Amino acid sequence: MLETLNIWVDVVGFVVAAGMLFGFVIPHFIGSIVTGRVKKHFVDDYWDPLAHRMHDPNNYHYKQPIGPDFAPPVRVWHWINIVSFIILLVSGLYIRYPWFEGGREIMRMAHYFFMYVITINLIFRMVYLYIAGDWADYLKFDLDDIKQAPSIMKYYLFIGPPYEHRKKFNPLQRPTYPAIWALLGLQALTGFIIWNPAIGGPLTSLAGGPADLAAWMRLLHNVNMRILVLIGTIHSYLGIMEDYPVLNVFWFWKDPDMAKYEHDEHHHEEEAHGSGLDDERPAPVE
Ligand code: HEM
Repeated sequence: MLETLNIWVDVVGFVVAAGMLFGFVIPHFIGSIVTGRVKKHFVDDYWDPLAHRMHDPNNYHYKQPIGPDFAPPVRVWHWINIVSFIILLVSGLYIRYPWFEGGREIMRMAHYFFMYVITINLIFRMVYLYIAGDWADYLKFDLDDIKQAPSIMKYYLFIGPPYEHRKKFNPLQRPTYPAIWALLGLQALTGFIIWNPAIGGPLTSLAGGPADLAAWMRLLHNVNMRILVLIGTIHSYLGIMEDYPVLNVFWFWKDPDMAKYEHDEHHHEEEAHGSGLDDERPAPVE
């Protein structure tokens, strides 16, 4: 049964990955070119999240630099996470599908080293969440979020204007972060049980012995790896396409030039820089 399941995971995983690429990333990229968003963002360098920040003193940090929104420990966490994730992904895929000769030792060593790095990093992130006390930015949802969700969906489907930026993260983006924490936690748990099935405790008898438990965990580790890659890809794609200046702050400590948004009324900028649907002003706050 495990053998059949493993084949299914490979087949379904491939179909889902191709579906994400051809069903979301590529059409969305073409849509962004056709509707003028790529030009607006990367040629004219006009970003609605920044404009909102400058013109919405109540909901967003008016005229504040973006830097203080991202504490240095979180930025360091994110870098360690990206590097470890990529190394774990490449080495893990090699362990499963050795695509060249003689790499087994080094790939296993890399996986066994970075599994500690990413796990300690995740524990650190949870401790820092507690220390910073900003859990609500990531975990709290209210009625306003539910009301706002359709306008965000419409924007991403190219059938609506840019949405309002009311909180640190929009309600469709916000669940991404706790989801990544939880999935990384599951990846660590399944990984450590593959490494030493004794950690599994009562799961061992449930699975029918340590070897079977490790085999089941390997299957879960593999499915979860695919989910993480899907979420990570969409997260990176949208981060670059829709929020590059903020990424620049978060990654490279480079604050954008906010002065250009200062004097113009928001809708003037939109008319001057946008095209098509993107010209419309955001829906008013209810
Ligand atoms: C979070 C901590 C992690 C731990 C503790 C961990 C642990 C392990 C262990 C012990 C193995 C078996 C290695 C062997 O057979 O010698 C493994 C395999 C693997 N890991 Fe990880 N890993 C972690 C994270 C990741 C991440 C982030 C990814 C990718 C996103 C990943 C992808 C894989 C893959 C694809 C395999 C091969 C599974 C198979 O043989 O079917 N791992 N991991």
